[in-house]
Amino acid sequence: MVNTTIKTTKKSQEIFAAAQNLMPGGVSSPVRAFKSVGGQPIVFDRVKGAYIWDVDGNQYIDYVNTWGPAICGHAHPEVIAALQEALEKGTSFGAPSIQENILAQMVIDAVPSIEMVRFVNSGTEACMAVLRLMRAFTGRDKVIKFEGCYHGHADMFLVKAGSGVATLGLPDSPGVPKSVTSNTLTAPLNDLEAVKTLFEQNRDQIAGVILEPVVGNAGFIPPDAGFLEGLRELTHEHGALLVFDEVMTGFRVAYGGAQEKFGVTPDLTTLGKIIGGGLPVGAYGGRREIMSMVAPAGPMYQAGTLSGNPLAMTAGIKTLELLQRPGTYEYLDRITKKLADGLLEIAQQTGHAACGGHIGGMFGLFFTSGPVHNYEDAKKSDLAKFARFHRGMLERGIYLAPSQFEAGFTSLAHTEEDIDRTLEAAKDVISNL
Ligand SMILES: Cc1ncc(COP(=O)(O)O)c(C=O)c1O
Repeated sequence: MVNTTIKTTKKSQEIFAAAQNLMPGGVSSPVRAFKSVGGQPIVFDRVKGAYIWDVDGNQYIDYVNTWGPAICGHAHPEVIAALQEALEKGTSFGAPSIQENILAQMVIDAVPSIEMVRFVNSGTEACMAVLRLMRAFTGRDKVIKFEGCYHGHADMFLVKAGSGVATLGLPDSPGVPKSVTSNTLTAPLNDLEAVKTLFEQNRDQIAGVILEPVVGNAGFIPPDAGFLEGLRELTHEHGALLVFDEVMTGFRVAYGGAQEKFGVTPDLTTLGKIIGGGLPVGAYGGRREIMSMVAPAGPMYQAGTLSGNPLAMTAGIKTLELLQRPGTYEYLDRITKKLADGLLEIAQQTGHAACGGHIGGMFGLFFTSGPVHNYEDAKKSDLAKFARFHRGMLERGIYLAPSQFEAGFTSLAHTEEDIDRTLEAAKDVISNL
């Protein structure tokens, strides 16, 4: 059993204190800050399998998973070996490589909607580009997104956004011109009537609908039965495109993503995280007819110095190869169910209102009696209680995302014993909340 009793975080505190003067908030991305849960971020030294070690030598069981990519476990030996071999050949070509073909074919084979794919460097880039493509293809400017969904930090998506924007309770960001977001329409999640009304009020003006098919950026919120199917029908009816942002859910809730899991095929899909095996990556793809509009095949411009980077492609290829092995998703589902069900049971036994669940290797727990169908429901959960839960778990060596508005992630490296250890800690923490 791993020793996860945290002794001191003195070095973490010193490094983070110094970071505050060097970088805004001391971090390279706001979601890493502990603003909504209190305390200070832990400064990491190394990661391996299901574990992370901080600069003070403490070991934690990790459910952040570098925000999703580490589905095979951190620093998987086969991914590292493939990267070492690739590294000998150089870090960037800025020209075509066979690795791009291999990963593109793997993505096309896996994801039902994707017939052609373009690699970029982040999920944000993928979502920016897909929006341009939606508009280019339909000749329409307006787009529907859902409250609490996060599609990266590009201007036109910073409207009622999830993830760090939700965690920090920020209003829509300053610096984003109204003229840019005036074409971004929003609806509550799982509310088909609201989407219908938007289509009726904006006839022939809506390029499409984009969503996280299983939401992770407002906490974990699965789609209601019929919601994805309803969006598919509505978009068809109105000549608009349906886009699944599967940056988080791609290769996580199932090998072929949420679209495979729920049997609903969008027109376009964005990917990131897992397909880069822990290196910076993003991708967008879809029907050949639409993707053929992308430059240089077509007129819609989008480019990138490091796009299709050979190291990112190599890590992605090896990661997907590992995921193709038999039993992968059954295992992820089993341990994640054990964790999610176990947490709920503990909350119930100790008299704390809670709801949550899991799909594949993605899970969540809200401190509210629920049910949580959308961001407004998620906001009703007891955030102060979550903060105490987070702190208690951290002190017992369990590393959870520092926000109620983020999903949790498991990996193939998490053992039954890790889950037992986590539930043991949760029992201790929740009964004392
Ligand atoms: C669903 C979704 N879309 C887009 C993004 C943005 O990706 P990136 O952080 O790689 O820019 C994220 C990041 O968490 C995400 O979860």
